[in-house]
Amino acid sequence: MTKRAASIAVGEKNASLEMRSGTMGPDVVDVTALYKDTGVFTYDPGFSSTASCESKITYIDGDEGVLLHRGYPIDQLAEQGDFLETCYLLLYGELPSAREKSDFIYRVTRHTMVHEQMSRFYSGFRRDAHPMAVMVGSVGALSAFYHDSTDIADPHQRMVASIRMVAKTPTLAAMAYKYHVGQPFVYPRNDLSYAENFLHMCFAVPCEPYKINPVLARAMDRIFILHADHEQNASTSTVRLAGSSGANPFACVAAGIACLWGPAHGGANEAALNMLTEIGTKDRIPEYIARAKDKNDPFRLMGFGHRVYKNYDPRAKIMQQTCHEVLDELGIKDDPLLEVAMELEQIALHDPYFVEKKLYPNVDFYSGITLKALGFPTTMFTVLFAVARTVGWIAQWKEMIEDPHQRIGRPRQLYTGATLRDYKPVAARG
Ligand code: ACO
Repeated sequence: MTKRAASIAVGEKNASLEMRSGTMGPDVVDVTALYKDTGVFTYDPGFSSTASCESKITYIDGDEGVLLHRGYPIDQLAEQGDFLETCYLLLYGELPSAREKSDFIYRVTRHTMVHEQMSRFYSGFRRDAHPMAVMVGSVGALSAFYHDSTDIADPHQRMVASIRMVAKTPTLAAMAYKYHVGQPFVYPRNDLSYAENFLHMCFAVPCEPYKINPVLARAMDRIFILHADHEQNASTSTVRLAGSSGANPFACVAAGIACLWGPAHGGANEAALNMLTEIGTKDRIPEYIARAKDKNDPFRLMGFGHRVYKNYDPRAKIMQQTCHEVLDELGIKDDPLLEVAMELEQIALHDPYFVEKKLYPNVDFYSGITLKALGFPTTMFTVLFAVARTVGWIAQWKEMIEDPHQRIGRPRQLYTGATLRDYKPVAARG
């Protein structure tokens, strides 16, 4: 690769900055020497033009609607693979051989139980607590229960923490759900697949057997695959930033969950379903489209638009197909929410406002309807996203810790506050 330089002149000072190329995607200008050479910082709130790290895990081409994990397209992974295989791929960089796969499944499956004292920890939460609040607390609390995997300098402990996190977040999420609805916790079952076990822990009750529907289990698995990683989004960047200080991985993932909770990020699927319910019938769609376009109205079409995708989100296509499969399997015909969603999508895809701003449906647009049909209340939607994304957070955290150039993340600022002034005693302040 030829070394290329970009130069920047700031007043009298010149800086020659190194250009770096990845294997795909835009080149970057390495600005690490900029302040030393010129005395200025770059300013990029929201990180629209800033690559915060080097990564080999996930690649997105937002203009073309492409999402690759370790080079594999998301649709191939979702249609031909399964979630634990995707986890292995994200964590280790390659798809597993048959032996590696069964060994990985064995390791994850043997870590699904949580310390028995965790159940007493749950009873400290209010019954009406949002399950995301419970997740932030309980995942963070794992570091209080599993001290033997918090030494981030030890590769073995890092690996154990990674497996524990992938294995235990579904158990904690199902416990958050059971606590929320006032039912007894259901222990994990090692004879079931990852998705089957999760559905079982959520929907089984002690008074009758729970029969797993393979179509619904496959849909759950696919939802997990679609949400597994998405490069340097807000929650992943939060995990990396938290981890850059040397914090333990359980605490870092808890920080990621907190960030994911927001309606502009993982909370959008809950917000999208609430919006569809509020719209209610097709005849009210024009009113909401008009509101979304009105600059004086804070309303936005939830499940539309994306910071990176300026084309159809490739996950949304698979999600739409999964949504239809679930509704067909459950015999849900003429679902009013689905009708509103499909009509809304068609109108928005042809409306000049959405076309010009390249606002396409994102993965959250159809995931809410699917999750509702699977039997989850809206308050659980973001929790399911967190279960799936845990592996992405952990893979990105591990990559950062293993990067020899890793330093604590410490952004700079453009200060616009008061300049130096002298303290006045209260009596002299007027
Ligand atoms: N409805 C109406 N207008 C929108 C929407 C929307 N959903 N999204 C963006 N716009 C408009 C903005 O008002 C802005 O208009 P302007 O240029 O006239 O000011 C323009 O499109 C660009 O939008 P930004 O907010 O600058 O884009 P940004 O990249 O910051 O935001 C975001 C992306 C947060 C996802 C935004 O599109 C949004 O709020 N969407 C709804 C929430 C949502 O679905 N979030 C899920 C994200 S995907 C995920 O987390 C898995």
